[in-house]
Amino acid sequence: MRITFFAAKSYDMDSFNKIKDQYPELELEYWETELSPKTASYVKDSEAVCAFVSSDVSAKTLKVLHEKGVKLVLMRCAGFNNVDIDAATEYGIKVMRVPGYSPEAVAEHAMALAMAANRHLHKAYIRVRENNFSLQGLTGLNFYEKTAGIIGTGKIGAAMARICRGFGMKVIGYDMYKNPDLDFVEYVELDELLGRSDLISLHCPLMDSTHHLINIETINKMKDGVVLVNTSRGGLVKTDDLIAGIREHKFSGVGLDVYEEETQNVYENREDDILMHSTTARLLSFPNVIVTSHQAFLTEEALGAISQVTMDNAMAFLKGEKSGTELN
Ligand code: NAI
Repeated sequence: MRITFFAAKSYDMDSFNKIKDQYPELELEYWETELSPKTASYVKDSEAVCAFVSSDVSAKTLKVLHEKGVKLVLMRCAGFNNVDIDAATEYGIKVMRVPGYSPEAVAEHAMALAMAANRHLHKAYIRVRENNFSLQGLTGLNFYEKTAGIIGTGKIGAAMARICRGFGMKVIGYDMYKNPDLDFVEYVELDELLGRSDLISLHCPLMDSTHHLINIETINKMKDGVVLVNTSRGGLVKTDDLIAGIREHKFSGVGLDVYEEETQNVYENREDDILMHSTTARLLSFPNVIVTSHQAFLTEEALGAISQVTMDNAMAFLKGEKSGTELN
């Protein structure tokens, strides 16, 4: 079975090529271009396509893929908010994903963002490079004995909760399901979490019910001087409201690996472009905001697990077996 990879980067190819000999039944075809209704129309003789977080796996794309004979979409990621599952089912296309390739990779990046924003590492780095050794404006807060609020205590949220506990923080959580592994976490309602946390980290999936979970109303319920981190999905935070909150000095730091409007930017070098998205540019203008480009997953361990599970998913499909990662 041939699998056409969309948005394939060198690190994707490296990790898949390392193991491809273990799967002689699978032929891998790498395309750098992103999946869209237009690029889907170029697929030829592939029963499967492999897509990622920024791919357009909408009904329109799935219709074209179906016409091209595609029967399987392999998402090489955990989130699937960019996939129209109902449309895939309607077109007889199976969708599989990689549910938990390395929760620690994402959680460690979340803490890195929290630390960088809190201790102004992004500013300190640039200052020292310019021979400016002044500490003015670099004061942070101890995380020790402060309260971390984890929204969504699944695999990644649990890993973040453990890291926060390691920092000596009190950890509180909000989720509709209590994670039985997290006996040290106090579960509270969302409003209480917002009002008590010194660090808030988002780890719930993007769904209709969580879209713009962080908006001006929820921001107003937060403590002044809170650090907010989002490594989950951009749509969880209403950017205009976040900007309003930043202007009102609500946050001592904001760390974003994901943000609304990221799709145009993610994994592209746009150094020479004039960015047309004003909200992204406004976010980047604040001294207490640090933004990375959807890279929380990017560790050797995570890439290795992603390639392994994706290839196993393809084999399960080929053999007509269940992998347990099916989304339809
Ligand atoms: P998971 O499914 O193990 O955990 C998600 C948790 O969120 C579950 O416990 C669920 O009950 C909870 N939840 C659902 N709706 C909620 C709500 N309204 N309020 C509070 N909690 C709610 O998922 P996992 O593996 O922990 O991933 C979480 C998210 O992280 C993914 O959906 C994905 O969007 C994002 N992610 C980001 C990456 C990055 O590179 N930045 C990489 C991998 C995942």
